[in-house]
Amino acid sequence: MSKYNFDEIIERKGTNALKTDALAKRYGNPDLIPLWVADMDFKSPAAITEAIIERAKHGIFGYTEPGQKYFDAIINWVDRQHNWNIQQEWITFVPGIVKGIAFVIDCFSSTEHQVIIQPPVYHPFRIVPTLHHRIVNDNPLKLEAGQYKMDLEGLKKLINPACRILILCNPHNPGGRVWTRRELSDIADICHEHNILVISDEIHSDLAFAPHKHVPFASVSEKAAMNSITFMAPSKTFNIAGVVSSYSIISNKELRDKFNCYLASSELDEGHIFAYLAAQAAYDHGDEWLIEAKDYIRENIHFADEYLKANIPQIKAMIPEASFLIWLDCRELNLSQKELVSLFVDDAKLALNDGAMFGAGGEGFMRMNVGTPLANIQRALDNLKKAVEAKQTHG
Ligand SMILES: Cc1ncc(COP(=O)(O)O)c(C=O)c1O
Repeated sequence: MSKYNFDEIIERKGTNALKTDALAKRYGNPDLIPLWVADMDFKSPAAITEAIIERAKHGIFGYTEPGQKYFDAIINWVDRQHNWNIQQEWITFVPGIVKGIAFVIDCFSSTEHQVIIQPPVYHPFRIVPTLHHRIVNDNPLKLEAGQYKMDLEGLKKLINPACRILILCNPHNPGGRVWTRRELSDIADICHEHNILVISDEIHSDLAFAPHKHVPFASVSEKAAMNSITFMAPSKTFNIAGVVSSYSIISNKELRDKFNCYLASSELDEGHIFAYLAAQAAYDHGDEWLIEAKDYIRENIHFADEYLKANIPQIKAMIPEASFLIWLDCRELNLSQKELVSLFVDDAKLALNDGAMFGAGGEGFMRMNVGTPLANIQRALDNLKKAVEAKQTHG
């Protein structure tokens, strides 16, 4: 019997939640079932809420330091979850991982440089460098037997002297791959040889499902450690994205000094009172909640997969090895991307992410967030089934 009620339906409308309250603006209809932006509809562990309330009761919210316990909590968590022994001076607060990626691009490259990404991938990997006037060089993932693989030969071929940074999504969003040690060390070797800095975005790392085990990129080899900047956060893990409590981990002193100086020059490394508190409470007290949340998410993934197989076999779920996002292969519906999106939004009344936004290889796919009570997924899939049937009957 679970200690936590992940079945509880909690109304988020009216809280300014992006997921619910931006539906009208983003999808033209406020009443869709929201299975898009990557946060969950579960209450965070009570220890986080209690820590915030307790601190708020003090009533004075002045300038705040991270505190030793904050660093200890991160160090112990990363060791416990990922067997990676990190040191305190390697850790620096950043005000969000997407912002962190932008800072690295700004700090370590200029407009003559190129940034490599491996689409389909989390869309800010393309948007952020593009808006910083860097050329984005695509090394598309290969889809083999229903799963993504990195194209290492393709990577070697596309590298040119202007390539300065590779952004790695580890684990991968939207495909849910937990990259293996071998895959990561191959990337590390290639990037080291060509002097390409690797940004390893590990925001989904705590959500890997056994037997898959997240491998921190920087832990695979000395070359990886010396040539990378890692970002982690408790935000996806414990559903606290709105608190903003991400951090960078850099073991290479030269890279670290340069990056930290960049951050400090605009005080970007200064977190806020609740960021430190929430991260500390999550990491010190969240283990048990996370185990149960992952079990629940896994059941949701299983349910969706079985439902699709039985009722909408033209749509295939790519089973994620980590996290609460399912990449739906809808190519057998034989619809244009516009028709596919309209099927979901206009006919089935669902808000999912349009696969095309993740770049090359994303067309024909939709991304579904199952970090929500099972009843929402059942309702969503029933809607989808009816919409697909109607489409096939009436064309
Ligand atoms: C791979 C990845 N990186 C970063 C983020 C966002 O992180 P942040 O809110 O810290 O910018 C997300 C959110 O969906 C994500 O999936």
